[in-house]
Amino acid sequence: MSGKRLAWALPHVLAHRCGGALAPENTLAGLRLAARLGFRVVEFDVMLSADGTPWLLHDETLERTTNGRGPLAATADRVLAGLDAGAAHHPAFAGEPLPTLAAAAALCQQLGLQANVEIKPAAGRAAETGEVVARCVREFWAGHPLPLVSSFSRAALDAARASVAELPLACLYEQVDDDWRQRVAELEAATLNVDAKRLDDGVLASAREAGIPVLAYTVNDVSAAHALRRRGVQAVFSDRLDLFAGF
Ligand code: G3P
Ligand code: MG
Repeated sequence: MSGKRLAWALPHVLAHRCGGALAPENTLAGLRLAARLGFRVVEFDVMLSADGTPWLLHDETLERTTNGRGPLAATADRVLAGLDAGAAHHPAFAGEPLPTLAAAAALCQQLGLQANVEIKPAAGRAAETGEVVARCVREFWAGHPLPLVSSFSRAALDAARASVAELPLACLYEQVDDDWRQRVAELEAATLNVDAKRLDDGVLASAREAGIPVLAYTVNDVSAAHALRRRGVQAVFSDRLDLFAGF
């Protein structure tokens, strides 16, 4: 089994949601902080607005992390552009904008960060989101090493691959299913990304045999990360940039 090669070396830690402990998650402030602390690779979540534009957001709705209301998928770009995505984390970040994928891509390139773009489709929009995000990634990263593109959604990953065949993909699972090896092979996936809590050693042994690196989320304890590394995990996703700088 041989996946599409990433044009950059996998690290031992990725800043999860740009690093959501010290800075507001999925924001440009998070990217800046991750770079300042020496992280090389960041993960962030991407969803489509009512206008079909990719924005960085984890939840389907805006309430937890911004001063907006309702589903991002039902909100127009002109409304999203005026939202505050910082104050909900801490008043010191008031005024931090909700970023578009275009803005995040430009800042990653400026800061020398590589990315794992996680496609997070709103309900009923999996194929559309996969296709649009894949095309945008190709456009926004033109002339730069492509990010790793992942999704829990099979339909989103299939659509991404159908639109942009050269994208390095990651199969992302809460719990790997029985046909994960077949999925990895058909997508020519570069990595297998899994929930650290549900990762068993049989999967790690099969992944090692297949030559596919395993990335585990979300690990906020350094000793737990060392234990996962000893079991064969290549990298962990962590929110705790304060603890994992230099890991
Ligand atoms: O991609 C790894 C991880 O981000 C998946 O979980 O819910 O934080 O997007 P979530
Ligand atoms: Mg994510």
